[in-house]
Amino acid sequence: MCGIVGYIGYEQAAPILLQGLEKLEYRGYDSAGVCLFNGKELQVEKAKGKLEVLKNLTNNGEDLSGTVGIGHTRWATHGEPSDVNAHPHLSESGRFAVVHNGIIENYNQLKEYLISKGITFRSKTDTEVIAQLIEYYYKDNLIDTIIKVLSKLNGSYAIGVISQENPDEIIAVRKESPLIVGLGEHENYIASDVPAILAKTRKIYRLENNEIAILTRENVRIINTDKEEVKKEVQTVNWDVSAAEKGGYEHFMFKEIMEQPKAIHDTITPRIKDGRVVLDEISITDEQLKNFNKIEIIACGSAYHVGVVAKYVFEKILRKPVEVDLASEFRYRDPIVDDKTLAVVISQSGETADTREAMKEAQRHGAHVISIVNVVGSSIASESDDVIYTWAGPEIAVATTKAYSTQLAVIYLMAIYFGDKLGNISEEDYKMYVSELEQLPDKITKILEHKENIQYLASKHFNSRDVFFIGRNIDYALSLEGSLKLKEISYIHSEAYAAGELKHGTISLIENGTLVIALATHEKLIEKIVSNIEEVQARGADVVCLACENHQEIKNVSQNTIFIPQACDMVLPSLAVIPLQLFAYYVASLKGCDIDKPRNLAKSVTVE
Ligand code: G6P
Repeated sequence: MCGIVGYIGYEQAAPILLQGLEKLEYRGYDSAGVCLFNGKELQVEKAKGKLEVLKNLTNNGEDLSGTVGIGHTRWATHGEPSDVNAHPHLSESGRFAVVHNGIIENYNQLKEYLISKGITFRSKTDTEVIAQLIEYYYKDNLIDTIIKVLSKLNGSYAIGVISQENPDEIIAVRKESPLIVGLGEHENYIASDVPAILAKTRKIYRLENNEIAILTRENVRIINTDKEEVKKEVQTVNWDVSAAEKGGYEHFMFKEIMEQPKAIHDTITPRIKDGRVVLDEISITDEQLKNFNKIEIIACGSAYHVGVVAKYVFEKILRKPVEVDLASEFRYRDPIVDDKTLAVVISQSGETADTREAMKEAQRHGAHVISIVNVVGSSIASESDDVIYTWAGPEIAVATTKAYSTQLAVIYLMAIYFGDKLGNISEEDYKMYVSELEQLPDKITKILEHKENIQYLASKHFNSRDVFFIGRNIDYALSLEGSLKLKEISYIHSEAYAAGELKHGTISLIENGTLVIALATHEKLIEKIVSNIEEVQARGADVVCLACENHQEIKNVSQNTIFIPQACDMVLPSLAVIPLQLFAYYVASLKGCDIDKPRNLAKSVTVE
């Protein structure tokens, strides 16, 4: 969380920094700031609230002079969102400025020490200690000072520093939090993520832990903390610039919902050759696969919900026990994992702190880790044993849609691939699964063509106070995602419930007009869910039911039904999630919510 940018070149830096920050707002948006060297001194402008506030304050950056600067968009961890807690932070004399993403765990101790030395702090942030420490230790060499300061810091950080002492340099360093360097012609950049610099350059370095980048207008040097030069390969980003733009849509979320057929197509097509699933990325042998006695799935948020779907899919097709864990729980529960465990780690960003640490924990116990990641070269992708990339392209809206869908697609590919290797799939089923997978993009397009039906349902229900999503089996897994989508962007209280559990508690909350969204796509359990629909209706609930088009009889029990194309059980969540995403989107839109940047959330959660 938090987004960092930095620019050094010959152009006015502030407008470039603000444009970069605009692309990083998904990482946090409770305050923003920039610091420029204006030829005389470091000048800071920062403001609580969305970036828009800072833009208005500085006339889109035009009012700030200087050709070197750093900027930041914040997701508060230490100290409430406020002007003073916003980054960049200056040292006491104002000679050093720092932007930071991450958490300095021992900041209190460091702060107390500096206060005892007579230094005055302005903010409540952990970041300010970095700026103050730099000034405290600075003699005449900024690099030496920064290396010394790093040795004092515990925790995670991506840091950008500019100073009055060396005004023709930006220094950047990372440990555990992501940071890239963008290479331009007579100008260079730092950023937390590619979209911030995509309009300027496609050539980047991805900094590894404890690498220090020293940027001037003409040159970038990378060294380690022993001051040895580090040779790095320049990576070329092949994302289309428009992929990180709204392209005429009102919100990124809507654009990303509409992009799902293509994202799924791009994720599966390269991996199906002559009707066979080929996962060249996976290094485990057939023998190893047979010997795994357990699959452990680890993730956070929507990626965890993909894991819950995967449990049903893997257990059915692979006939191996599957456990799904929230990364933040897995880490601390002393899990039973060893070299007979196949761990599957799912993450869009590849940077989620808990997921990454949980992965390391699994590796420490000897598990083989396959990660499913969207951001190429991200930490989880680099540190896992094998990585299967989802080719969703950049996802900007905080609420995930296309990343979730492509993660599901990878789960299906893995189920078919491993199922075949384990001898669990007949030739007939194999062909059926592959064909069902290949038909997904067209079927999703069909659902999207009828989005107005969902908009209509949203217009009937956007004033709901509580919404319950119910389902059985894989529909239950899906209800978790439907409920999360709705609550995160529309702020309506919602809960996902296994339909069979209703009678053990939740049914007491059903009263006249309570909205229940019943997922009834799972063929074998239709009758059971129909009974649950009747039960809640008898207590006054308004029911919206989601079913496959071959079950028109559902109309007899549910007042409102959304039909999706028929498909095999395995891939149904990929179809059924589309109306749920659209429903959440339209409800939030009717309520006037800030859809792409819901309150208190951030897309990339790099703190624990
Ligand atoms: C945040 C995002 C979610 C995402 C979760 C895990 O909460 O808003 O959309 O599912 O983090 O992120 P990851 O990048 O690991 O998938």
